[in-house]
Amino acid sequence: TYVVTDACIRCKYMDCVEVCPVDCFYEGENMLVINPSECIDCGVCEPECPAEAILPDTENGLEQWLELNAKYSAEWPNLTSKKDSPADADDFKDQEGKFEKYFS
Ligand code: SF4
Ligand code: F3S
Repeated sequence: TYVVTDACIRCKYMDCVEVCPVDCFYEGENMLVINPSECIDCGVCEPECPAEAILPDTENGLEQWLELNAKYSAEWPNLTSKKDSPADADDFKDQEGKFEKYFS
């Protein structure tokens, strides 16, 4: 599966949503997550994200994000089409420590 990481927080560009063939993105207040049991591993979302927030879970050190994606995709609403990203999204791109500061 692919997972959304903390780089998405407060950016929410949503280009990923547009390209996913199985609509497996779920929307929280500050970030999106992927439902790992629905993702078919096609990989098309990864290069679409301007924040480079999406990674394959085969990369090292992503256990925390896999867990978070699984947990919240069961709680948050499904998102099937792109909406406007936050007006200040670019201010948060490439910021470190967004999970601690802004996740909700
Ligand atoms: Fe959707 Fe493919 Fe990305 Fe999985 S890898 S979330 S199926 S676009
Ligand atoms: Fe987030 Fe990137 Fe999608 S910032 S909403 S994972 S395009």
